Amino acid sequence: MEKAQEEFMQKVKEKNEGKYKKYYILTMGCQLNENDSEKISGMLSNMGYTETVNMEEADFILFNTCCVRENAEERLFGKIGEIKRLKETKPILLAIGGCMMQEKIMLDKIKKSYPFVDIVFGTHTMQNLPEYVYKALIKQEKVKDVIDIDGEIYEGLPIKRNDKFKASVTIMYGCNNFCSYCIVPYVRGRERSRSPEKILEEVQTLAKEGYKEITLLGQNVNSYKGNDRIKNFADLLNEVCKIEGIERIRFISPHPKDFTDDVIEAIANNEKVCKIIHLPLQSGNTKVLKEMNRKYTKEQYLELVEKMKKRIPNIVFSTDIIVGFPGETDEEFEDTLDVVRKVNYEQIFMFIYSIRSGTVAEKREDQIPEDIKHKRFDRLKELYEARVDENNEKYIGTEQKVLIEGFSKNNEKMYTARTDTNKVVVFKPTENEKIGDIVKVKILSAHKWYLEAEIIDERG
Ligand code: SAH
Ligand code: SF4
Ligand code: F3S
Repeated sequence: MEKAQEEFMQKVKEKNEGKYKKYYILTMGCQLNENDSEKISGMLSNMGYTETVNMEEADFILFNTCCVRENAEERLFGKIGEIKRLKETKPILLAIGGCMMQEKIMLDKIKKSYPFVDIVFGTHTMQNLPEYVYKALIKQEKVKDVIDIDGEIYEGLPIKRNDKFKASVTIMYGCNNFCSYCIVPYVRGRERSRSPEKILEEVQTLAKEGYKEITLLGQNVNSYKGNDRIKNFADLLNEVCKIEGIERIRFISPHPKDFTDDVIEAIANNEKVCKIIHLPLQSGNTKVLKEMNRKYTKEQYLELVEKMKKRIPNIVFSTDIIVGFPGETDEEFEDTLDVVRKVNYEQIFMFIYSIRSGTVAEKREDQIPEDIKHKRFDRLKELYEARVDENNEKYIGTEQKVLIEGFSKNNEKMYTARTDTNKVVVFKPTENEKIGDIVKVKILSAHKWYLEAEIIDERG
């Protein structure tokens, strides 16, 4: 972190001394956005604020925005309206950051219609937050700092993590793929990889702090570029696996077009790499995939899945799918359902196509009517949910290693835990294990969104 920013942080801290100031962050986006929020939390904590989950009692409110789909906009403006009313009752600093602020239309709208917003920053200026808070709090200035220039990666920002046993580590920023529906490359800039040493250092620190599970993050993790020693994503994965104390490793998202054999080998050879792979499909039709600029065909995707299933027999998959891309016909949509049946995904994140301004697909005149998009969405959901029951039943009678995450929200007498394939498992605690342990359980019964189990070995 830059020295100047550390000084701003110190000055704000002095100003806040003894005042018990609280901050509230609403994270509206993906895991990268979440990881940014953890860094924002780290900076705010160092400035003398403590976190609250109750927005009403906060002195500093921050919205970390996302713009990947349209509905986020309405939500944000609704929230800003709430703060306007709160601001009438007490002094509050309101800051808005994240991907949506990198969109010119949105930035202009905030400037014009919401003058009471105190701080606005984008994805390339987050590291200057201490300076913005200093200006807003001490000098009572409004700050708007959004730039389009990406390049440097800011290392060493303080971080306050949401979880004690699972942590995310960003390995690369930005995206070069320009899928025709997607706004991310416009708001996050070009691909930049962190140095492997910095990544490994961060994971080592996490291991020392007692973290058990790491998720490596990036928009396209398998196009990670390292250095002479740790060249690519496969090398990085192998190195992270060597770190003692870390027992589970996940990564999101890989791109099917860059899924090289060395990555498959790294998954196969390392027990620590969870055997659920998130492999975004988007569409199962080759023509639609071409128009989406995904750079693989239906057949290539299925071959990749088959190759991985052959090399790693117990592997399962999760995916992202968009329904209703411009011009998608009923027959083309059937191909998506066909791939869903063939791969038999453990988890599907389903999205209705949403027009994003500035993207290539925005300009198409053959947009699909809302009712058709919704019908397709419902069909996909139905197919998926029928599979969920079947897939869950396969777990009954099996032994699974699970990471205990805490007590179940629905039944405080039960632990809630996760298998390495991300299934929620609940079971009755005994005296021998605690939250954060990885233990072995036997699955007794399957429900729609969780499995019930009993403990068989507290050592995992
Ligand atoms: N880089 C990741 C995903 C980033 S965005 C990848 O390539 O897999 C997360 C998901 O949002 C995407 O996988 C896609 O399914 C969905 N998405 C992106 N743009 C969208 C849009 N315009 N409409 C609907 N869904 C979209
Ligand atoms: Fe968007 Fe495609 Fe980049 Fe993913 S790979 S962030 S979907 S442009
Ligand atoms: Fe993530 Fe949304 Fe930005 S998905 S990268 S927070 S646009």
